[in-house]
Amino acid sequence: MNFDAIIERRGTDCAKYDAYAEHGHTADILPLWVADMDFRSPECVLEALREAVNHGIFGYSIRSSRYFPALQAWFSKHFDWEIAPQWLMNTPGVVFALSAAVRATTKIGDNVLVLPPVYYPFYRVIADNDRKIVRSELNYENGRYTMNFADIERKIVENDVKAMIFCSPHNPVGRVWTLAELQTLGAICKKHNVAVISDEIHCDFAFPEYPHTPFVKACPDLADNVIICTAPSKTFNLAGLQVSNILVPGEELQKRFKRELDIAAYHDVNRLGAVAATAAYEGGEEWLTECKAYMRENLKYIRNFLAARLPKIKLVEPEGTYLAWLDCSGLGLTKEQLDDLIINKANLWLDTGSIFGEYTEQFQRIVLACPRATLEKAMEQLAKAVDSL
Ligand SMILES: Cc1ncc(COP(=O)(O)O)c(C=O)c1O
Repeated sequence: MNFDAIIERRGTDCAKYDAYAEHGHTADILPLWVADMDFRSPECVLEALREAVNHGIFGYSIRSSRYFPALQAWFSKHFDWEIAPQWLMNTPGVVFALSAAVRATTKIGDNVLVLPPVYYPFYRVIADNDRKIVRSELNYENGRYTMNFADIERKIVENDVKAMIFCSPHNPVGRVWTLAELQTLGAICKKHNVAVISDEIHCDFAFPEYPHTPFVKACPDLADNVIICTAPSKTFNLAGLQVSNILVPGEELQKRFKRELDIAAYHDVNRLGAVAATAAYEGGEEWLTECKAYMRENLKYIRNFLAARLPKIKLVEPEGTYLAWLDCSGLGLTKEQLDDLIINKANLWLDTGSIFGEYTEQFQRIVLACPRATLEKAMEQLAKAVDSL
């Protein structure tokens, strides 16, 4: 696999490059905002898709008998986690599942906890379902984010919180929560009967020194009150094929979650999505290993570049994901000036910090899943813009 290859994505109806006008940008802006990759999926996935396309019939589909065993073997091998067939429900996306999970675990008007700064659809999913958002900010000290457990417990008690949406590994700050952290959080949720909706979509991108633990494995006594959201979409760059794997160990909760899927009238899995996911879990490991190694080099590249050329911008060291969270407070700009610098002067399309939380206007999130040359171009544009200040 040649991750250096520049593959033209413009004109393929991809959100990352082609939705610039909807977002108020010009056609030549360099996009490193949405979390997908500028890489082709593993060859085994392309081969399986070609075979399905050549067959040419795309009627209603079921999951193949290979699907669950492939997923089960993946989780067993990578996370030493044994899943059972009745836990698995598919949805077209993780955000879709988060929304159903909020409805399955809470009632209208209930309070749902999040830990900002966090992936912004969490807020939308809570508000759109007429639930209320309760925030416990992560601590940010010496360039590292941690959970504030005393504040989490206080917010849960004060607001009678019924559920939390948890991001593990955490987008955008890149933390891969330790077992001890997960267990401390789990104990608080157990004590106050808070359901945990654990979004683990980035689980396959934890760096080897920071192993990811599925929430239900860390906190088995909470298993009845946990929904784990995973997907092959980030891992193998399949977001456009719309398939996610949602794992619900508790029998009662399975029924409530299934009921929400029924109400949303979602039934059959996307045929090509299921074909691609099966092939990826069966044969995509080597590709993923190479992909992760490449992206770690991308991370190293921007770390070195920032230190040498842009010392006022600090990289918040990620422990996983293919995202880099940049602390730009050293530039001393207002939010408007920072956005102007990034968009108009550097001609870069990143995710601006304020969409992730109330106190992160001085941050920008950059996606590292692109050929090195693209990243070099982006960093040069950024350096030139900062030099011009
Ligand atoms: C934490 C997290 N959850 C969910 C998603 C999106 O999931 P989906 O496209 O399956 O709805 C993303 C995409 O960036 C993400 O970072």
